Amino acid sequence: MSSSLGLTPELVAYLASANPPEHAALKRCREETARMTQARMQISAEQGAFMQVLARLMSAKRAFEIGVFTGYSALATALTLKEMHGRAAHILACDVSEEWTTKARDYWREANVDDVIELVIAPATETLKVRIAQGQAGAYDFGFIDADKTGYADYYEAGLELLRPGGALLFDNALWSGRVTDPADTSADTSALRALAVKAKSDPRVHAAMTNIGDGLLICVKL
Ligand SMILES: C[S@@+](CC[C@H](N)C(=O)[O-])C[C@H]1O[C@@H](n2cnc3c(N)ncnc32)[C@H](O)[C@@H]1O
Repeated sequence: MSSSLGLTPELVAYLASANPPEHAALKRCREETARMTQARMQISAEQGAFMQVLARLMSAKRAFEIGVFTGYSALATALTLKEMHGRAAHILACDVSEEWTTKARDYWREANVDDVIELVIAPATETLKVRIAQGQAGAYDFGFIDADKTGYADYYEAGLELLRPGGALLFDNALWSGRVTDPADTSADTSALRALAVKAKSDPRVHAAMTNIGDGLLICVKL
């Protein structure tokens, strides 16, 4: 099971007991994904709970997500958006894997949110470009980015275009298990994460804050 960076198992359990109970489909998604070799890619339960609160604070109705995997984060978001807005809620979910997202669809069906999630299997840069060309700039309240790190710079630009003013763009893995502070790590992924942090901090188009939720969450609010 994935958990936030640096938390002891005791604190993870304490957070789980303090937060609202997970929906049954979220629980099944987390437990079944934990048995996969790629389990660490899934966001933690406490991060899902945080994203739900954030979406509710913003009364978010339309969201996009890049990086679905087995569907936990999209499901957490969809449950909150649909509870607030019913079938007017909408999530554009982007991934390149048919295999992993087939599992996601199963959890979404169980939770009865499959009708508000539109899954597009294609490189996300293409999907976002198409949506902008179709006139969807400014049409989203909330974006969650959790995919290839070298794509983050493009997702930042396209994501900002898709968001309405006041909307929020969340980037996962901003701390990258601590690798961002290792000067010896000059890999493309780590460098992309550092560059995004620098860009967001000085970008007059956003109010950004980095937090240590999950593996680090960079939150950018569009001004
Ligand atoms: C870290 S996982 C996402 C975890 C997910 N948010 C969750 O809560 O379980 C990253 C996902 O990004 C997808 N991905 C990688 N490159 C991509 C791309 N260029 N476009 C869209 N999705 C991509 C992978 O297939 C994988 O499912």
